[in-house]
Amino acid sequence: MNNNVNRFSRRVFLKSGSGVMAGLMIPATVKGLFAKEKASISVDVNEVRGIVCPEIYGQFIEHLGRAIYGGIFDEETNSFRKDVLEKVKPLKAPLMRYPGGTVTKTYHWKDGIGPVDKRPVRRNLIWGGEDSNHFGTDEFMKYSAEIGAAPFLTVNMNTGTAEEASDWVEYCNANGNSYFATLRKTNGHAAPYKVKYWGLGNEEAAKEDVGLLQNPDDYIKKAWYFAKLMKLQDPEISLVLVGDNDEWNRKVLQEMHPICDYISLHLYAGSQPGRPATLFSSIASMEKRIEETAQLIKEIAPEKVENFNKWYRFPSRQKPVKIALDEWGIWENGGTGNYGLEVKYNWNHALGVATFFNIFHRHADVIGMATWAQTVNVLAPVMTDQTKVFVQTVYYPMVMYRQLCGGKSVGVKVDGPVNDGIPALDVAATVNEDILTITVVNRDPKQDIDIALNKNGNWKVYVLNAPGIELENTFDKDVVSHKETTLKGSNYSAPAHSISFLQIKI
Ligand code: AHR
Repeated sequence: MNNNVNRFSRRVFLKSGSGVMAGLMIPATVKGLFAKEKASISVDVNEVRGIVCPEIYGQFIEHLGRAIYGGIFDEETNSFRKDVLEKVKPLKAPLMRYPGGTVTKTYHWKDGIGPVDKRPVRRNLIWGGEDSNHFGTDEFMKYSAEIGAAPFLTVNMNTGTAEEASDWVEYCNANGNSYFATLRKTNGHAAPYKVKYWGLGNEEAAKEDVGLLQNPDDYIKKAWYFAKLMKLQDPEISLVLVGDNDEWNRKVLQEMHPICDYISLHLYAGSQPGRPATLFSSIASMEKRIEETAQLIKEIAPEKVENFNKWYRFPSRQKPVKIALDEWGIWENGGTGNYGLEVKYNWNHALGVATFFNIFHRHADVIGMATWAQTVNVLAPVMTDQTKVFVQTVYYPMVMYRQLCGGKSVGVKVDGPVNDGIPALDVAATVNEDILTITVVNRDPKQDIDIALNKNGNWKVYVLNAPGIELENTFDKDVVSHKETTLKGSNYSAPAHSISFLQIKI
């Protein structure tokens, strides 16, 4: 149903894909007749823009459609699907967000613990269908441990209570003989899970989800109460505030920054039908959104909070507030499955994912975490049917950025061609120990670009590409190629529609 467009129109400023159409329009066919495009990239390894938080390479799973049941979890055997796990593991996500998403607003964690045959089957009021609750907190912890991710839980601030959220912290993190710690032990998990990251709700400004109208003041009032009861259980936990527009963020930050560590932004990019390049203007608008939020944080939240009233009984924030992009991704209309959320990604979308990672690196000083929405079947890099699995194009940049980048984000200047207002090249640079990695996304669908680098030497080069931007993977074919080569000197030719990782020892 095409209600999707309306249902999610509150995000329209993020999902519109509205292009900035300026400059000289040269049809691609004419351009193709000219010589290669030229560009220069200049990296300054001494200009440290920030330390890349490993948590920016996270993932998200939700009780939604075939994301968990039929995706990562096999209901028939009550176990994780091994074929899916094999694809999820190489994503090397250091952080996994759960159980939602919107479903958080009706999710009661106590339904999903204890003997599986005793767990209540609940209707999934948000996304449809029934939830057996066979995958719950303990299964999520096990899954996170298997893939090497730290768990990140979001609490129900709509049909749930502050006490319920506080009990969840106790169940996960307490180590004594208290009721919920004992319950966890009885359920077979002696050691506390030490869950550090907790989300105070999800998209709380969205009245349409469960019909609860919340203005920022309502949210602040509730969030303080939830935060307090949760922090009394474990003062070490990090809390993620729900963000929305600037007005909301300003108020929420003003009132809550002393006790919260992150403010969230949900960024879903999309393109206009038949105009793939508009994906990049949509993503560019999100970089702007990150910059505006960073500015707001700077204005409102001091680096740390002193003179905090001791009667709160837990310490105040001691590190700068950061942005949590706890849902980011690409959301095109026309998908299948629940609410059209099983979206097919082509190679252009993979270029979009690489652009997003470059943005995260460029803003490493302020982005504290990012979890791609989602992981399996729903807006996902990994797709399944009942017996088979395949990875979408977007999977590959996720794997490669996580494998090759990280460390310090350093300064980079780019001078290159611009197509219809969209720079063809998107570039970032990171230094990990003594390896500089320049990530170059050539988003021009037709032209290779000759790049003069300001560093000379012996480079290792990894290139991801596909024969065309419109191509998608299926169960039967994988269109993505990986090339590993070397380069001597300072001139690199970035193939049309490619993602290159240029590495050099410094
Ligand atoms: O990721 C799908 C949905 O998008 C999430 O449930 C919700 O938080 C967002 O609107």
